[in-house]
Amino acid sequence: MVVSKDKVEEILHKYDSRADSLVPILMDAQDICDDHYVDEETQKYIAQKLNLTYVDVYEVSSFFSAINKTSKGKYFIQLCDSSVCRINKKDIIEDYLEKTLGISVGETTPDNMFTLEQTACFGACDISPAIRINKKVYGHLTIQKVKHLLEDLRGADHE
Ligand code: FES
Repeated sequence: MVVSKDKVEEILHKYDSRADSLVPILMDAQDICDDHYVDEETQKYIAQKLNLTYVDVYEVSSFFSAINKTSKGKYFIQLCDSSVCRINKKDIIEDYLEKTLGISVGETTPDNMFTLEQTACFGACDISPAIRINKKVYGHLTIQKVKHLLEDLRGADHE
């Protein structure tokens, strides 16, 4: 398991180990995972604790795109691909991110620092084009702003 059983137990306790809370349980498990996903072993453990089958949990996690099934880089960049961000030229930001990071959407940098993915609207349309990095939202993006953001993240990693 990529997260400790103790931490998963805390999450299960928070939701009284209720099977109808499976989605928030999986989301919370993902939130505490450094690799931003819920691995198979954790899904199996949760299934067992909720008296569900692994297939039940797998089907739910597969249905919800917000639950990641594979590990992500340290900084998980989600670029909004919905209409308002498209109108506000998110393509320019996407091109810049791909060129600067040397990866395409859906990939992770070889040093495992950055994963770049597209996502549907996450409600930041008023500040579009927008991205989320490890759940923190950044908006009114320009190339200059993204450049500084990446520099800050790289810098923070060397502190
Ligand atoms: S359309 Fe991009 S955040 Fe809503």
